[in-house]
Amino acid sequence: PRSTQPPAVASDAVKDSAFLRACRREPVPHTPVWFMRQAGRSLPEYRKVREGIPMLESCMRPELVTEITLQPVRRHGVDAAIYFSDIVVPLKAIGVGLDIKPGVGPVVEKPIRTRADLAQLRDLTPEDVSYVTEAMGLLTAELGSTPLIGFAGAPFTLASYLVEGGPSRTYENAKAMMYGDPELWADLLDRLAEITAAFLKVQIEAGASAVQLFDSWAGALAPADYRRSVLPASAKVFRAVEPYGVPRIHFGVGTGELLKLLGEAGADVVGVDWRVPLDEAARRVGPGKALQGNLDPTVLFAGTEAVEAKTREVLDTARGLEGHVFNLGHGVMPSTDPDALTRLVEYVHERTAR
Ligand code: CP3
Repeated sequence: PRSTQPPAVASDAVKDSAFLRACRREPVPHTPVWFMRQAGRSLPEYRKVREGIPMLESCMRPELVTEITLQPVRRHGVDAAIYFSDIVVPLKAIGVGLDIKPGVGPVVEKPIRTRADLAQLRDLTPEDVSYVTEAMGLLTAELGSTPLIGFAGAPFTLASYLVEGGPSRTYENAKAMMYGDPELWADLLDRLAEITAAFLKVQIEAGASAVQLFDSWAGALAPADYRRSVLPASAKVFRAVEPYGVPRIHFGVGTGELLKLLGEAGADVVGVDWRVPLDEAARRVGPGKALQGNLDPTVLFAGTEAVEAKTREVLDTARGLEGHVFNLGHGVMPSTDPDALTRLVEYVHERTAR
């Protein structure tokens, strides 16, 4: 029941951070910066601690998760940490047969294609992910006034892996189910919404002071199909965490035509990829939401001058926004020079200091 208001977990210093202030569309001392995939392969210290440990196993070791999550905060001075995990972790935790193949991504043993296959998806309990609670406890103690972002994959993006059996460019099996058996599709997405909501609640109760729902592949959908067949499940996730009062970020790639709907699903902050300038994104999203984004991650390969010029462009388009969290338009690419990221954080802070 939603009648009881869960306790606020974040300290006053965290609540007053530039990142959370920007999410709430309040004045900020500088534009806050963090990077999707800031923890990971671009950092030599990450590759070192991950040596010989499979991806999913690394997500279940609280000390290792804590170290990896802290690495980009120490190195880059970003304004928020993002919990080190993966979108398939809650599925693995409830016993779905899957693995993350290096250089490929999530691969599922028995793809979900029929109603009987839904039996793979039982409810998620806090005990299933006790390592998350433990790691977040360690992390919030270490992070001090730096906020910790929790995250989960959105029902559509999770379904795309579960139905296809792995990464896809066309989502033909997932879309075949969506168009051909809308009832099964709706039940699948609803199950995933329940699991995702339970997983985000665990993270908020363990200390996450904001959450991001990654619907990375939603850009594959036409707006009418997104509205009919996907939005209700994502909205259910956002409604479930609403009572906690933590900012909810919603992000997908190639979602220019969906930005309004990503907000309507229940987000406080809409993540924008690099294809739509932020002032235009704000017009599409409408009032009452902050925006996050949106430097093209490949710009980081072009040298400091180009990075600074393109960053000024992003900041100029962000000038009239109600709230702006600077980020890339998608995740940090593994071959990115980490020093370019550190310089970018400094540059945004300097340019936007008030
Ligand atoms: O710093 C952070 O942002 C936190 C870490 C994080 C990971 N995955 C770690 C990871 C986050 C936020 C994710 C989310 C995720 N996982 C998404 C949504 C974000 C996005 O990029 O759109 C998606 C679609 C996945 C699924 C997934 N997992 C993919 C496509 C891959 C890459 C496969 C590859 O090797 O190129 C993974 C594996 C993965 N998740 C890695 C990391 C650091 C790489 C594996 C490794 O380091 O061994």
